[in-house]
Amino acid sequence: MNVILFGPPGCGKGTQARRLEDRFNTIQLSTGDMLRAEVASGSEIGRKAKAVMDAGHLVPDGVMIAMIANRIDQPDCKNGFLLDGFPRTTAQARALDEMLAEQGLRLDHVIEITIDAAVLAERLAGRFNCARCGAVYHDKFQRPKVDGVCDVCGSSTGFTRRVDDKADTVKARLKAYDEQTAPLLPYYQAREVLRRVDGMGSIDEVTRQLEAILEQA
Ligand code: AP5
Repeated sequence: MNVILFGPPGCGKGTQARRLEDRFNTIQLSTGDMLRAEVASGSEIGRKAKAVMDAGHLVPDGVMIAMIANRIDQPDCKNGFLLDGFPRTTAQARALDEMLAEQGLRLDHVIEITIDAAVLAERLAGRFNCARCGAVYHDKFQRPKVDGVCDVCGSSTGFTRRVDDKADTVKARLKAYDEQTAPLLPYYQAREVLRRVDGMGSIDEVTRQLEAILEQA
């Protein structure tokens, strides 16, 4: 099952993808996480991407397309994948179609997590991640069960906040989404693969809506 989770920064793509992986024996492919790993490793891609990401802009298509082409070729993608953060431009969407066609794969669903723009700033301002496994938390909506300890990996080594979750950068990221990524929705609607879930409910409620769609696949 190959699925795109679609929606603006902070709508819940990463949170939901991580919850769905085990249940559907699939794998989350987060281009944001891949880029942050490149930045952390100090690679050439990471050095070039860092300034772009910190400004809230999109990393060039060529870099992203090569990254995903290489990733979906790996053995752990054989049962399918949940794309989180890709495609983000028309060029990326077309390249994904070509990659899938070359491998005889199909896109089962593109699921847009819809959300009121007014709540995104609060979602992103309160986000923090486990420094060890990357699990996503929120100051108000998703606190660890035990303060200072990650629910997922049990680490108490600390939590981090993303540099690009600062208010000014969030504005630039939302602009990039509106101008370059949201225009992809009609592309997928025309192919009759686009589904929508209401991202305004609780995290559990959104998971239930997604599960209902994926169970039909
Ligand atoms: P990326 O990491 O992909 O960021 P994004 O798309 O902006 O999405 P986020 O990770 O910010 O949000 P999310 O929807 O996953 O929300 P989350 O689940 O964390 O990309 C970062 C940068 O990398 C880009 O700006 C760009 O520079 C570059 N990049 C990446 N991919 C690229 C590409 N393909 N092309 C070019 N450039 C690329 O949830 C947010 C918070 O809300 C969390 O704290 C969570 O706990 C909370 N929350 C989630 N759901 C709920 C809920 N239902 N109720 C209450 N709280 C909730």
